[in-house]
Amino acid sequence: MKFTALNRISSFVLLACTLTLVLSCKRPVDEIEVLSETPLREAYAPFFKIGAAFAVGEYGTDFRTKYASDILNEYNSITPENCMKPDQIQGVKGQFRWTYADRIVNWAKANGKVVRGHTLVWHSQSPSWMTEGGEAAARANMKTHIETILARYDETEIYAWDVLNEAISDDASGSHRTSSPWYIAYGDSSYVRDAFSFARQANPNLQLFYNDYNVATSLTKRNAIKAMIEEHNLVEDNLIDGIGFQAHWGITYPSPSEIAETIDLFADMGLKIHITELDITCNASERDLLEARYDEIFAVFREKADKIDSVTFWGIADDYTWLDNFKGFKNYPFLIDTKHERKQAYYTVRDAAL
Ligand code: G3I
Repeated sequence: MKFTALNRISSFVLLACTLTLVLSCKRPVDEIEVLSETPLREAYAPFFKIGAAFAVGEYGTDFRTKYASDILNEYNSITPENCMKPDQIQGVKGQFRWTYADRIVNWAKANGKVVRGHTLVWHSQSPSWMTEGGEAAARANMKTHIETILARYDETEIYAWDVLNEAISDDASGSHRTSSPWYIAYGDSSYVRDAFSFARQANPNLQLFYNDYNVATSLTKRNAIKAMIEEHNLVEDNLIDGIGFQAHWGITYPSPSEIAETIDLFADMGLKIHITELDITCNASERDLLEARYDEIFAVFREKADKIDSVTFWGIADDYTWLDNFKGFKNYPFLIDTKHERKQAYYTVRDAAL
């Protein structure tokens, strides 16, 4: 018995010495206290908004109950992950489901967050009736959809919208997504201009964005997006305000220079930049590489902060990410881990802004 007690005492002394040593290597206590209370949104306030994709019950996931308030308080911008998509908000013609969209808007108001609307016109998650019956019917359906939603939420409730999502093809052609039901219904890409015109007419006080993926990773795609904007005179006719880079990136792609060049390309067109769906595909063996990757990405974002208004993560913590299904393996894409603990990558990104 005596021997075991001695063991316990010696291990306690060893632990105490270790802890003292470790803490002595960290910042002084008062700085730790200050830093530990500084959320990302506060650290990045001089640079840009920090957001996350939220779900409030559609598909059964509710971030308001899934994460503690201090985690949700890291952000000052919210994008609804699914509840404002065409099939969620008007799945049946004339039947608008406001439940979840109202929840996001009301929660944001009550918690001092802004909302990015996502998304008004998309080839995916859109009910087939919207684009049936020929061009005139499709145009009328798009106009009614956009006008009804923008009549319900004004610019103080949803300040910016992904008006059009993913209208450019993924292939090497750099052409329009001709497989889009909107392209097929119209017979050409003129639905692109309609989407922005209807939104601008419905509320000229909104910020209107075109949103897409692989914008920074594909020269062909970003040149095709530029060409589409020019083809439909969206900038000249003041129909668009910015570009959303979804930013579903990897540990090694795109490079910091590709990110910087892409930001400059669209900023030089007079467009605002929103990083709209940031996550880093990262499997279990790559987890140690995530901190350096986020460090280099946010160094570019801070350098280009005069052109970037908002950076939104497409999720909050590693326990919930679309990447797991999409990639077919567990991903660890965020600054917060599966147990809702802040990773070292979180502190590296946050402290670099202080
Ligand atoms: O959770 C339900 C499950 O209970 C139900 O049995 C099942 C039946 O289909 O649906 C499940 O919901 C799924 C939902 O994700 C939550 O996991 C939906 O099927 C699935 O369609 C939905 O996928 C969404 C995806 O868009 C659809 O394209 C993802 O949540 C969402 O993160 C993802 O987001 C898109 C952006 O809107 C646009 N950019 C790309 C990004 C990733 O695809």
